[in-house]
Amino acid sequence: MSFESSCDETSVAIVENGHKILSNVVATQIPSHKRFGGVVPEVASRHHIEMITYCIRDAMKEAGVNYSDLDAVAVTYGPGLVGALLIGVTAAKTIAWAHHLPLIPVNHLAGHIYAARFIKPIVFPAMALVVSGGHTELVSMPKEGQFEIIGETRDDAAGEVYDKVGRVMGITYPAGPDVDKLAHEGHDTFHFPRAMEKAPNYDFSFSGLKSAFLNTVHHAHQVGKTLNKADLSASFQAAVVDVLVHKTRKALKAHPVKQLILGGGVAANLGLRSHLKAMLAKDFPHTEFLKAPRKLCGDNAAMIGGAAYVFYKEKKFAGADLNADPGLEF
Ligand code: KG4
Ligand code: ZN
Repeated sequence: MSFESSCDETSVAIVENGHKILSNVVATQIPSHKRFGGVVPEVASRHHIEMITYCIRDAMKEAGVNYSDLDAVAVTYGPGLVGALLIGVTAAKTIAWAHHLPLIPVNHLAGHIYAARFIKPIVFPAMALVVSGGHTELVSMPKEGQFEIIGETRDDAAGEVYDKVGRVMGITYPAGPDVDKLAHEGHDTFHFPRAMEKAPNYDFSFSGLKSAFLNTVHHAHQVGKTLNKADLSASFQAAVVDVLVHKTRKALKAHPVKQLILGGGVAANLGLRSHLKAMLAKDFPHTEFLKAPRKLCGDNAAMIGGAAYVFYKEKKFAGADLNADPGLEF
């Protein structure tokens, strides 16, 4: 049984051997956060408390299992919102203790990476690009269970910027899916900046792009001009995707791998998926592209169960003193 409650989804899943999903119940809080334009931590914690027992009940019912069928309990213990994480951690610890099951602490980002494991096994060495509402990271994975961040955002995460630019175009949280759709109906007419493309590292920066976008919209508003939302979205998406693809190419050149894994909420982006695929086909024809299934890109507990299996085999268990770690790194 696995738990995920790091942000605005309460989720419980039953996963067999790290790759077969028996159930994956996700109670989303998005409607509650929409009116605030983003996730309100206190509201998130309260919803997790309300929903967690129903999620446990439904996940077990859907999978057709009893507590005696379980081998272990896994939980996201960071990174994320501390109050939100604590609900999942407490629920997982309680079930592990009551039923004498090993407790497996899982890093949320490892979960996003292992969402791809439901397509096929990961082959090492691998590289993962994790792009979500809170993270933008390039992770080198020389062996199973080893994760090394080689590049990350210096400021905003890609998903966070999607949500922000969507908001100024009047799109409600989370704006990523709608901006992605609009982008396919427009053209890159604004040519927004591509930050840090020439920097000698694998880091990203999206705050300059965000400011350029906001300035363009505010300026147009001041002079009474209406900008085409499809072109704005297409221009924004082209800038994000260009930088992500460019830095991934650079990282792959320096760290040749057998697979490139794509995970995280923004991994559902169709522009990003197709451009990464084209880049691999052209520059790294021997590197396989392993994408998380679109329906497992957003936060869910099945991906935590997928990653947990690796730690289960290595017997990396935690005790009842496991705590939430909001700033957890690999
Ligand atoms: O991984 P996730 O569910 O939560 C975090 O761990 O942060 O990611 C949520 C983020 C949101 O910012 C949302 O707007 C973005 O993923 N997102 C997308 C798309 N679908 C979701 N961004 C761009 N294109 C999409 N199709
Ligand atoms: Zn996430």
